[in-house]
Order: sequence, then structure tokens, then C-alpha cells
Amino acid sequence: MKEKTIYPGEVFATTADFDANIRQLLPRYDEMLEAIALGVSPHAQRILDLGCGTGELSLKLLKRCPNAQVVALDYSPRMIEFAQSKLKATEYAQRWTGIEGDFGDWANHQLVLEDGFDACVSSLAIHHLTDQSKGQLFARIRESLNLGGVFWNADPVLPESPALSDVYQSIREQWAAQQGTNLAKVRAKTGKSTPYGHSQPDQLATLDTHLQMLKTAGFATVAVPWKYYGLAVFGGFA
Ligand SMILES: C[S@@+](CC[C@H](N)C(=O)[O-])C[C@H]1O[C@@H](n2cnc3c(N)ncnc32)[C@H](O)[C@@H]1O
Repeated sequence: MKEKTIYPGEVFATTADFDANIRQLLPRYDEMLEAIALGVSPHAQRILDLGCGTGELSLKLLKRCPNAQVVALDYSPRMIEFAQSKLKATEYAQRWTGIEGDFGDWANHQLVLEDGFDACVSSLAIHHLTDQSKGQLFARIRESLNLGGVFWNADPVLPESPALSDVYQSIREQWAAQQGTNLAKVRAKTGKSTPYGHSQPDQLATLDTHLQMLKTAGFATVAVPWKYYGLAVFGGFA
């Protein structure tokens, strides 16, 4: 059967497969998103979720921040539609706005959203940008945040050595086995992504490179609140 072509970051050929299968493909997905949510003040009023996908991170933030409005951006009409119908069925429907658009365009001011966010968050999406575009996006995020605002991003990071690469891979294999499957079976459900908009298939950078880029973008304090082998939550305070 011919592999279905998808946008970078959609991962699975069928959008409805995402929520169950990402939890098999990646170790500790829920814990990772919860680390982001815990890094956002429960008093936050406006939150931007970049590359919201099916809305799993948005849901954790809406739960933690009872007064927050979440603006969620994703360039995939399939993902936005899926998230929209999921969120509509929850008590959070009035506090979530999904927008179809490319966060690279937002970084370039070609897509305009009102600034003044208390938090900007993202998970498993920004690693599709080149390092130059990541830097531009980090600077735009910094500019859009209120004083004291935070940015947290969860992404896979480039292993610093071939030996670590092997370790990170074996951890993912072990995780899949614990979920009663294996990576080959889960990967059989993925689509083949080709460049779209500002994104491309994986453009991983090391954690150190990310932290340098955040400092260059003007984040006064950078931090790594969570890391599990090849996955990390990192960001900073405006
Ligand atoms: C792997 S999914 C993660 C979704 C969600 N954040 C989560 O953790 O479950 C990555 C999402 O980023 C979106 N994405 C990738 N590049 C993008 C871009 N340049 N602009 C907007 N969305 C993008 C994809 O469409 C996809 O929905």
C-alpha cells in the first residue's frame, strides 16, 4: 500500500490515531505535557499553544488555569478540525480558540495575533523548523510575552553522541514493549511527511543549542524543568 503523505508533525496517516499512538511512540508523553502545564501559573489569563495538534496540551493548560483563554495555532486543517470537535465536547469550549495557520508566518509577522500572552507553549512541533527559523520564532515568542511571561517547549533533542543515540533509541523500544507493542508496529501507522510551509521533516538540535538560541532571543533566564533521555521540556522567562 502507498504511504500517505502528511505535513511535518502530523505523524500518523490517520488523525484519529494520534492520541493513542503518540503515547506508544514516545515515552512519558503525558508526564512531559504535564511538566509544561506545571510551569505555567494557574493565574495565567492568555496562553498561546503553537502546533496544538489534537489539543492534548491545550486541555492540560485549560484544566490547570481556570481563567485562561487559550489560542491554539496549527497549520493542519485535519488537526485543527479534530481538536475543535474534541474541545467542543468539553467544559472548556468557550476558553479555547483554534486557528489554522503556520507559526513560521506568525514569527515573520505575516500572520497576526494580538500580543500580550502570559505563557506560550508548544510540544513536538518546533523541531520541524530549521535552526535559523527556530531562532526567529523564539525571538517572536519573547516579544509576544507579557513581563514575567513564560515559554515552554517540549521536543526531541539531538543526541550529543552516537552512544547516547543508541541509548535513547533503546529507551523508546523498551517503552513501546511496556505498552504491549513495538516501534515497528507503531511506525507502520505513520505517514510520510514532506516539507510544508515553514516546516520540514525532523530538524533536531541539541539541548545546548536550544538554550543558546533562547538566550540570543532575549530570554533572561532559561531552564530545563524536565528531561527524559531524548525528550526535553525547556524554555525561559521573559
Ligand atoms: C506531533 S504534533 C504535536 C501536537 C501537540 N502539541 C501534542 O503534543 O500532542 C505536531 C503538530 O505541529 C503542527 N505543526 C508543525 N509545523 C507547524 C507549523 N510550521 N505551523 C503550525 N503548525 C505546525 C502539526 O500540524 C502537528 O499538529
